[in-house]
Amino acid sequence: MTGAEIIARCRILAGFSETPGAITRTFLCPAMRDVHHALRSWMEEAGMTVSLDGAGNLRGVYAASTPNAARLLIGSHVDTVPNAGAYDGVLGVVWGIAVVGALAGRRLPFAIEVIAFSEEEGVRFGVPFIGSRFVNGTLGPELLARTDIDGVSVAEALRHFGVQPGPCDVAQYLAYLECHIEQGPVLDALGLPLGVVTAIVGQTRAEVRFLGAANHAGTTPMRMRRDALAAAGRWIACVERFARATPGAVATVGSIHACPGAGNVIAGEAVATLDLRHADDEARHALTATLRLAAEAIATSRDLTLEWNTRMDQAAVACDPALTEMLAHSVESTGHQVYRLASGAGHDAMITATMMPVAMLFVRSPGGISHHPDESVRASDVEAALAAGLAFLGELEGRYA
Ligand code: HGY
Ligand code: MN
Ligand code: MN
Repeated sequence: MTGAEIIARCRILAGFSETPGAITRTFLCPAMRDVHHALRSWMEEAGMTVSLDGAGNLRGVYAASTPNAARLLIGSHVDTVPNAGAYDGVLGVVWGIAVVGALAGRRLPFAIEVIAFSEEEGVRFGVPFIGSRFVNGTLGPELLARTDIDGVSVAEALRHFGVQPGPCDVAQYLAYLECHIEQGPVLDALGLPLGVVTAIVGQTRAEVRFLGAANHAGTTPMRMRRDALAAAGRWIACVERFARATPGAVATVGSIHACPGAGNVIAGEAVATLDLRHADDEARHALTATLRLAAEAIATSRDLTLEWNTRMDQAAVACDPALTEMLAHSVESTGHQVYRLASGAGHDAMITATMMPVAMLFVRSPGGISHHPDESVRASDVEAALAAGLAFLGELEGRYA
């Protein structure tokens, strides 16, 4: 398969969306059935046995030369952010199928499982990694009970899609390998097609609720207001200021929801989402504490109350050094320069790392654009990634010799 053919398949999947004219696929939305239908046919064409697990992950297994062999797990996610690009997540799944397809029926001493995780972005339920947390056994009752904006729980969403959240069959895994677009500007600035990921930065995600009092916009004097949206606005400015002052930190308030949300009503409630990342967990926790204190101080000074709901506290994850060196050697063997970098974006590898060694291969993001319809990849870079993936299989096979 060529890089162009892999891209063409990603574009086919991009056509399956819950919003006409944009690419949006949240957890187990109806469009996910079309994605599964296409992936299933490609997986079966590559000689894999396909199943849908209890979290809506689609899984294709390519048998080894001997029964009950350990598996190399290759995968990424097939859900998207709203108005997404065509490659975040899905490239890693389509690439994995192409790597298996390129074996053309040749069996290896290990099996290969390609997994399309059902939910990594955290859009529908405000908590990411539902698919991979099912695989590592941390999809517990609390997460299954979380509800979306319509009051539907994760467990109900699974049932509506036709899957039962039962136990996950845990095979014996050798390692996890994920190919993903870099989603940043580094490889593009260096003019390099591929990167080898050394670590994935830690993330804090929180919902910050300012509670004041709604009132009439025209008759309420400024000094008598308990304006939740104005307070949230002050805090958002603090988030940016403190993050800019903290080397290595990035912090984002990506969404804000005001109630009642009318132009002529003072907002009685404002909910802001915080996404805070840093390679060093201590620094991330310290900045989180500073931002929480700032929110409390702003709320108190305006006679508001504050609710701080931490939705995720995900530690930074180091990729496995030995596996990463193997991947670096695979990239080198295809004639490309090896460049090692940390990932500012989160990935399912953070979750699978709790149960197996992980390695990640980055593909250049032209213009560093992602989480946007202009996200793109170059066919030659995807082709280089395919060659590196096959070289990696060769390296792994060599360990069995
Ligand atoms: O948000 C992230 O880091 C990833 O794209 N889900
Ligand atoms: Mn993403
Ligand atoms: Mn992603």
